[in-house]
Amino acid sequence: MHICRTIADIRTTTAGFRAAGESVALVPTMGYLHAGHMALVERAKSEGQRVVTTIFVNPTQFGANEDLSTYPRDEARDLAMLQAAGVNAVFLPEVAEIYPEGAQTIVETTDLAKILIGKLRPGHFRGVATVVTKLFNIIQPDVACFGEKDYQQLCVIRQFTRDLNIPVRIVGVPTVREADGLAMSSRNVRLTPQDRAAAVILSRALTQAADLAKTGITASRLRAWVAAHIQSEPRADLQSADIRDAQTLRSISGPLKAPAVILLAVKFGAVLLIDQRVVTP
Ligand code: PAF
Repeated sequence: MHICRTIADIRTTTAGFRAAGESVALVPTMGYLHAGHMALVERAKSEGQRVVTTIFVNPTQFGANEDLSTYPRDEARDLAMLQAAGVNAVFLPEVAEIYPEGAQTIVETTDLAKILIGKLRPGHFRGVATVVTKLFNIIQPDVACFGEKDYQQLCVIRQFTRDLNIPVRIVGVPTVREADGLAMSSRNVRLTPQDRAAAVILSRALTQAADLAKTGITASRLRAWVAAHIQSEPRADLQSADIRDAQTLRSISGPLKAPAVILLAVKFGAVLLIDQRVVTP
């Protein structure tokens, strides 16, 4: 497995893959890998002949009061997991390699970045779109895999890839869950044992909402039911519960007629968890 810390190094490595006629599948991550990331790697292996993973805790997608400094990191463990999974190259740049002095260009999906998580975390999707565009330009993959857990992020990435004519195929990979249903996330390790137990309310609410969606319920009643269900858990601090068109993320009302996505953002102590589920009428 090639371990590259500079742009020059990863470019030489991926140029070698392409010169051999091999397609490249990219899995961008912020490290502290878990089974959810490894599902992305497995999918990437079936989508391309060579798999490149990036590990970069991107500072521009964290707000001033967010958890950049406490974001969990374990490079040695991550590298061992990627090696065991058969990844061909890893790119682990320093912040200055990605954001040199004097940079002033950003990528922003003007509408999608303002709604939902974008309201709770202003600037977050600008940081994601900018860094993912840079990673696409540095690595030039044929295909890139992202988790459906970060549903709005996936929509943002699909949108700017289309808008900027970036020749990368975007693949969404289903959320991997713990045995009790909690969506896997690097942030889960920061939950207290009590909050960890209580956090199961997210996936339970979404599972029940999927059944309710089939009863002819309206979008607003379904949203209200999910919000009330989450709020019945005293440890859960509901930040947002939304129901949107699953394709466009536009608001919907009235009886469900097409696939809709329910998106949750819930705090347990200082830890913000998100989860989502596409439901069909
Ligand atoms: O989903 C993530 O881990 C990050 O947002 C990403 C896509 C690697 C960009 O920093």
